Amino acid sequence: MKGIILAGGTGTRLYPLTKLVNKHLLPVGKYPMICYGIERLRRAGIRDILMIIGKASSGLYMDFLGDGSEWGVSLTYRIQSNAGGIAQALGLAKGFVSEGEKFVVLLGDNLFKDDLAPFVKSFREQAVGARVLLKQVADPHRYGVPVFHPERKDEIVKIEEKPSQPKSHYCVTGLYMYDTNVFDIVERLVPSARGELEITDVNNVYAEAGRLQYDVLQEWWTDAGTFESLFEASVMLRGVEP
Ligand code: G1P
Repeated sequence: MKGIILAGGTGTRLYPLTKLVNKHLLPVGKYPMICYGIERLRRAGIRDILMIIGKASSGLYMDFLGDGSEWGVSLTYRIQSNAGGIAQALGLAKGFVSEGEKFVVLLGDNLFKDDLAPFVKSFREQAVGARVLLKQVADPHRYGVPVFHPERKDEIVKIEEKPSQPKSHYCVTGLYMYDTNVFDIVERLVPSARGELEITDVNNVYAEAGRLQYDVLQEWWTDAGTFESLFEASVMLRGVEP
């Protein structure tokens, strides 16, 4: 299975550091943030990885990661010229995966300890649709929040993006598994109120069709998109060699 890491974006919540360098290249422990995601994918057997990156720091990515061989993976790069949202970035991956192939998408600022391999296995065995990874959190209103099917407990009926009154204690993490139908879904999306193509809108197309399943991360997870979570990530991953 191939992997796609979305590592563009402007990282406004980490300004002014992100004025200097793309968010995913900021230090976490001894390494740039992006290295931990690459390592998690590699460990799950995902070695063929497309990196969607912004133009501004593109040279730095190449300098540090190169073709990926030093990290045990093969890296391809594609530039996201305008920051049009997570789903717009995902759309740029069309053509990297063959028709009918399943693949994993990771938001580059999502850092986690769980081994991905069992989840990838579940997705391989899933007949149709997409799969998301959830995490129980204390502050679900900051994230996409799943609403579970009242009877079919393995199914999500809807995801609410940053709801003021979350309907569960779970958040949808930035780890998604799709089939190539996702590219048709992205093409039909319309921009949200903030002018972006939203990944939650993509997932809700699967959810409405009863084709969105999930697993729950059991270990530590954070998205390192704010100063507080970046600090937490640095503490948790201090001394960890990706
Ligand atoms: C994005 C998604 C959100 C998800 C989060 C995980 O939010 O829109 O559903 O829970 O990533 O990191 P953002 O970080 O863009 O606000």
